Amino acid sequence: MRHELEEDILEVLVAKEEIISLTKELGERITKDYRGKRPLLIGILKGACPFMSDLIQAIPLDLTIDFMAVSSYGQSSKSTGEVRILKDLDATVEDRDILIVEDIIDSGNTLFYLKNLLLSRGAKSVELVTLLNKPERRTREIEVKYIGRDIPDHFVVGYGLDFNETYRNLPYIGILKPEVYS
Ligand code: IMP
Ligand code: MG
Repeated sequence: MRHELEEDILEVLVAKEEIISLTKELGERITKDYRGKRPLLIGILKGACPFMSDLIQAIPLDLTIDFMAVSSYGQSSKSTGEVRILKDLDATVEDRDILIVEDIIDSGNTLFYLKNLLLSRGAKSVELVTLLNKPERRTREIEVKYIGRDIPDHFVVGYGLDFNETYRNLPYIGILKPEVYS
């Protein structure tokens, strides 16, 4: 069925089939690397929800999950550089092997901050997982071990990614028409 928001999309950048295969590949790599370790996967609300849901089902290990919410873009499409914790973890991270799960890495600010925070709280290890990566926009040096794929510098929405809290339920990742946000 046609999506009501489809007319705001310039073009589909990552189709559902590609999302499924990227998630499967990441799941296989993580499964191999974390066998016997009982990792804690932390999804960053709200954007990472669809990816987190599919990713954990692609990792057939003994694992636990938790969520954090942080502020990043607010109401605009440009990062402010500020990271604020809106919802903290339920469980302690001490001595846990952690994978932070994100929808997209842009400046790298959010994950730079979160990785250091979790290490300072006593995590045994912290690695980063992201479905999408915008390498051209990086302003922080961070090592991202698990990347679904790189994308060019466009503002994208769908499969969890929003503009102004809208478009998260599109079943693919699409480039938003610039006239929608300018
Ligand atoms: P960073 O801290 O600059 O790396 O930004 C990461 C966060 O910015 C992501 O979790 C998204 O919420 C948001 N973001 C970055 N690029 C986009 C985009 O193209 N579309 C929608 N949200 C984005
Ligand atoms: Mg967002």
